[in-house]
Amino acid sequence: MDGFAARPTSKTHPIDVVDAKAARAYVRKLPAGARALLDARGFEPKPGRVAVLPASGGKVRVLLVREGPGDVWSAGALAGLGPGRYAVRTRLAPDDATALALGFALGRYRFDRYRSKAPRRPVLVWPEGADRARVEAEAGAINFGRDLVNTPAGDLGPAELADAAVELAERFGGTCTVTCGDDLLDAGFPAVHTVGRGSARPPCVADLRWGEADAPAVTLVGKGIVFDSGGLDLKGAAGMKLMKKDMGGAATVLAMAHMIMARGLPVRLRVLVPAAENAISGSAYRPLDVIRTRAGISVEVGNTDAEGRLVLCDALAAAAEEKPRLLADVATLTGAARVALGTELPALFASDDDWAQAVLEEGTRLRDPLWRLPLWDPYDRLLDSDVADVSNVARGSYGGAITAALFLRRFVPRRLPWLHVDTMAWNLEARPGRPKGGEIFGARALVAAVERRLLAG
Ligand code: BES
Ligand code: MN
Ligand code: ZN
Repeated sequence: MDGFAARPTSKTHPIDVVDAKAARAYVRKLPAGARALLDARGFEPKPGRVAVLPASGGKVRVLLVREGPGDVWSAGALAGLGPGRYAVRTRLAPDDATALALGFALGRYRFDRYRSKAPRRPVLVWPEGADRARVEAEAGAINFGRDLVNTPAGDLGPAELADAAVELAERFGGTCTVTCGDDLLDAGFPAVHTVGRGSARPPCVADLRWGEADAPAVTLVGKGIVFDSGGLDLKGAAGMKLMKKDMGGAATVLAMAHMIMARGLPVRLRVLVPAAENAISGSAYRPLDVIRTRAGISVEVGNTDAEGRLVLCDALAAAAEEKPRLLADVATLTGAARVALGTELPALFASDDDWAQAVLEEGTRLRDPLWRLPLWDPYDRLLDSDVADVSNVARGSYGGAITAALFLRRFVPRRLPWLHVDTMAWNLEARPGRPKGGEIFGARALVAAVERRLLAG
């Protein structure tokens, strides 16, 4: 994996890792010159802060302040160091060495495919005790997903997104079938076809499979809208700007698949990616059109900008037909989820309390948090349509993340354990370990919940 070295050289700079609550004491014990330097810079010993101090022999000594044990993200700040080789000299518990390496690998990520010159970046000596395979699987997966989100829609149409699933499957010995264009009608994906047919780039559904037949079945579904113009219910410029990220759900479930396959977890994995561009043309779908979906439920299009739930409803119905042990979907589904929880906390909806609890707890433990919102039955009536079984938008403008989740629930059998994640998939600003741009939220938490509930013991 890029950014790591096996061992130090004579020119490797040492890193001291200090917990925030011990940082003031650490600074007090520094040589007077180093202390004066920190004071003059106004250095505050908060988690995720890095200071570079002079040392002997042409080297520097680096101070990294972390939150405490379990911290993943603070180490991302090390990625801001200049080129050179660095090594942690603080003794860390193995889990903390792994977390630190992961934070560094995630913070070091840059999307520089379109730059003529990529800046040189720091290299970290693998910290002692770190689980390298795990870091490579997790950071490799997340950075792969980030690349997909960051890739401009002009270069990532439905076919290219489906291709990414095919390549991923091939890399890990799985299979992936892709159905595109009018073939989607025969394959039973009428809603995906309807949403995508207005684009010059036909919609596709990728269906990835991996793992042993007798392992517990986990099926993931990811919203793959490669660009969301809103369709005939056109978005304004500001609301449309970031919509290359509207395949962030697909990127998240593909990253989860990457993680699961790279780690060789004993599950029977299926990933469905309905990929489409929500575009405008003479063949675009219209407000108040009615779609006969795969599940046999008719849907009135109240708003062509609520396209995500339409592509998902066919995919969820297809996924449910096999009755997996867990069905989970991830989607950049609503602005309302961002109003409720902000951009840094994905919303989790769950048909099953035990699954919800596992995801929330693992998210907290792994510093990959989600927050639960309710599948509030009384709001289901807001989806009533005048002419069809259901409308794709709720009347009224409140509780939009909940009503979107309730729409999806109509396509999932009641007894099937089902999770729905409404995510931003984007960092509006950089934080340690989280460069600005495409982001994969919740993937580590979801995979850990699968391990805990289906693979433990
Ligand atoms: N992709 C958007 C949701 C979105 C917008 C996610 C901004 C993150 C940031 C989705 O397709 C959409 O347009 N949703 C509409 C639904 C509405 C028409 C019921 C929304 O949230 O406004
Ligand atoms: Mn939309
Ligand atoms: Zn969308």
